[in-house]
Amino acid sequence: MACFRAVALVIGVAAMVAIFVPSTMAKDYVVGDDNGWMQNFDYQAWAQGKQFYVGDTLLFKYPEGVHNVRKVNGTAFQQCVAPADADSLTSGNDIVTLAKPGPKWYICSKGNHCAVGNMRLRIDVLAQVGSPGSAPGMGPSSAVPISAGITRAGSAATTAWIMVILGFAIAVGLY
Ligand SMILES: *[C@@H]1O[C@H](CO)[C@@H](O)[C@H](O)[C@H]1NC(C)=O
Repeated sequence: MACFRAVALVIGVAAMVAIFVPSTMAKDYVVGDDNGWMQNFDYQAWAQGKQFYVGDTLLFKYPEGVHNVRKVNGTAFQQCVAPADADSLTSGNDIVTLAKPGPKWYICSKGNHCAVGNMRLRIDVLAQVGSPGSAPGMGPSSAVPISAGITRAGSAATTAWIMVILGFAIAVGLY
């Protein structure tokens, strides 16, 4: 019985770790994963199910000179046109840090790569709840991890919380 309780305690602790640890790390995404930034790849399918947060980064990988990355607004995204003043990245190893929440649009403005090759990515960047920006005076090491963690982990957190509660309930002998 004592052994069983010890196991329950370990499960509870592990579940808490699962909730809190991922929130402290910004994620680095390689756009398109191994495919990189290329034509005839479905970047919306790639983005689906991913949750992008302020502080995360996108890496656009492609042979230099073949493509580019232009940050545009929603209209330009629809029309596949990059205005002259749009942010332009051309290195082939372009890192974009997601600095602000909201929708972001990226296209390749070379040739018909966007209109025909479907080289465009739209994502929604979510704010880190309790970030320094929304809670003045609070450093990243104080308020951020817990609240952001709960938000970020989403439904996984719900499951994890149930495990935490069950684990500790068993550990203290309620069951
Ligand atoms: C989108 O960008 C174009 C070009 O910079 C600009 O003319 C247009 O007003 C912008 N649209 C919106 C909705 O901001």
